[in-house]
Amino acid sequence: MSGVSVVTGGGGGIGREVALRLAARGDAVSVWDRDPDAARTTADAIVEAGGRAESEALDVADQDQVRDATARAISAFGNISTLMTGAGYSRFVDFLDLTIEEWTSMLTVHATGTFVCAQAVTPSMIDAHFGRMVFISSLAGLSGSAGHVHYAAAKAAILGLTKALCKELGPSGITVNAIAPGAIDTPMLKLIKPEIAERNSNNPVGRVGTPADVAETVLFLASPQASFITGAVVNLSGGAYTY
Ligand SMILES: NC(=O)c1ccc[n+]([C@@H]2O[C@H](COP(=O)([O-])OP(=O)(O)OC[C@H]3O[C@@H](n4cnc5c(N)ncnc54)[C@H](O)[C@@H]3O)[C@@H](O)[C@H]2O)c1
Repeated sequence: MSGVSVVTGGGGGIGREVALRLAARGDAVSVWDRDPDAARTTADAIVEAGGRAESEALDVADQDQVRDATARAISAFGNISTLMTGAGYSRFVDFLDLTIEEWTSMLTVHATGTFVCAQAVTPSMIDAHFGRMVFISSLAGLSGSAGHVHYAAAKAAILGLTKALCKELGPSGITVNAIAPGAIDTPMLKLIKPEIAERNSNNPVGRVGTPADVAETVLFLASPQASFITGAVVNLSGGAYTY
């Protein structure tokens, strides 16, 4: 199939892999990231491989920037069929040291950013009566994580957004799902203290997750075949958490 995908955080470890694989299945991809060089590098890799891509340097929580980028993607490639939101960051802070600025920043990037991007692409999906939204939450949003109160709260907000939005957009042919990854081997994991990364990487499968594990899950949820899956949270943690 071929469609038009928007990938946020497309310059990062998970987003880049998702963007490359969506392009390999034939999608035109608009790669969004606040890091212009990272976004351009991913888009260039797609074009060099024979695909169609453009890059946008933006903050996912900035409604004007996101609306402008959405309009440019539609004008370049047509109606948006897939939105994958991978923009984000992580920082461990003990609860008593957590400032309101850090709390607000975390909620803004993850929760507000996901809302802003989802709202921007929705009219285009309604127009086509087809859409696939896949939001990247985290195992922390399902089970909590010490030293990560603001991150867990922000990732849990994405789950509420997923479940409510699937009900509102289902009649328009749009599915909305979330993936809750455990530890995935990306630049973000390398920024975490080794002892925390090791604790988070323990799981029954016995290895850390890869961007490819996430990307293949996104590809399925973003396919026409996944039309009956909506409002779901995929636990992608090698069994680290069961519920
Ligand atoms: N790596 C893991 O272990 C892991 C586990 C669970 C969830 N996640 C989530 O997966 C997503 C992708 O993480 P990753 O591991 O690929 O990290 P990463 O740091 O490699 O990539 C994140 C990308 O998001 C971009 N970004 C950050 N804030 C942004 C903003 N406001 N606007 C636009 N772009 C922004 C960064 O520039 C970066 O390129 C994140 O939401 C993260 O919370 C990661």
